[in-house]
Amino acid sequence: MTQLDTRSVHAGRDDLSALGVHVPPIDLSTTYPLPSVDTGGAAYDTLTQGRAPEGGSLVYQRLWNPTVARFEDALAELEHSDGAVAFGSGMAALTACLLAAVAAGSPHMVAVRPLYGGTDHLLSTGLLGTTVTYARPAEVRSAIQPDTGLVIVETPANPTVDLVDIAAIAAAAGDVPVLVDNTFATPVLQQPARHGASLVLHSATKYLGGHGDVMGGVVAGGVEWVARLRQIRAVTGGLLHPMAAYELHRGLQTLPVRVRAQQATAIKVADWLSAQPSVERVYYPGLADPQGLIGRQQSGPGAVLAFTVAGGYEAASRVAGRLKLITHAVSLGGVDTLIQHPAALTHRLVSTEAKPSDALLRLSLGLEDPEDLTTDLATALS
Ligand SMILES: Cc1ncc(COP(=O)(O)O)c(C=O)c1O
Repeated sequence: MTQLDTRSVHAGRDDLSALGVHVPPIDLSTTYPLPSVDTGGAAYDTLTQGRAPEGGSLVYQRLWNPTVARFEDALAELEHSDGAVAFGSGMAALTACLLAAVAAGSPHMVAVRPLYGGTDHLLSTGLLGTTVTYARPAEVRSAIQPDTGLVIVETPANPTVDLVDIAAIAAAAGDVPVLVDNTFATPVLQQPARHGASLVLHSATKYLGGHGDVMGGVVAGGVEWVARLRQIRAVTGGLLHPMAAYELHRGLQTLPVRVRAQQATAIKVADWLSAQPSVERVYYPGLADPQGLIGRQQSGPGAVLAFTVAGGYEAASRVAGRLKLITHAVSLGGVDTLIQHPAALTHRLVSTEAKPSDALLRLSLGLEDPEDLTTDLATALS
């Protein structure tokens, strides 16, 4: 098989030449003509059972869309998974995974903190009928119960970019499927399925799109999970729009180049921040990797970091407010550098014991010149 960079450009597009086109066609149909009542019904059965179309009508966009399927095929290939199912956001993707576990009679989740605040909140509230035990990586084995449906981890984790050893978690989880949120690393730096993850989730809104102009979520997994998640998507309707799928599929083509360039900037900015007297601590796996996971699990430290400033909440909000080039805004993974205050925003709804420090800022490095970024940070920190 060709290398990841090559597949990023070509995955999900192998049939384009035969079709006589250079970029994927966008199919906006919400409904599809039915050759007959019989074949329409048969196609409906196939699609609502989560299987791929078998040559008949595609019936209805909530059941299948070819533009979305191309993006799913491409992402699955990059993640070394059998398939993938795309949703309207990362949270819709997580919702489908949780509903699948609940429907299978396994509503108990074991989750390793830190997690994105929205994920933490969804689990803590039990809104979807799940229960949760938060566990440190070494406690995962003992936290598992007979009705545990998933072990949920993020690595690198939002917001302090802690790394979790996926293979160790998978070994501790035994038969319980492990869901890894791979949003921060992307398949360019890490392919969790190769380390034992059953489900690999992305907020596609971040690096996969990469330009801050499209929302989406996607889950890669084995054949059975893919069918189950498609069934849930068909019933609950958390769809990715075909235009968004087109943009995300296009985003994959530049993903390796963007992630590596943004990572190179993050390495420089992390070093620079570490030398600033007003910065108390920089959280970045490129500076400290006690488990030796860079190289073994993740090929590089990524392009998100976090840091605490001396002076707590007041100082952190002053820094966020003073930046000119760096945008003070939620989200990450785009071509422009964003900063945000997790305790006030992305992790606002996280319970006190797991809330990030008030002095913490999260920085997602973009494609700007690193010196322009450190100049902006220097003024804000002064
Ligand atoms: C790691 C992680 N997972 C999931 C999500 C949720 O994704 P979305 O905002 O696309 O619903 C986010 C959003 O910030 C995230 O950072």
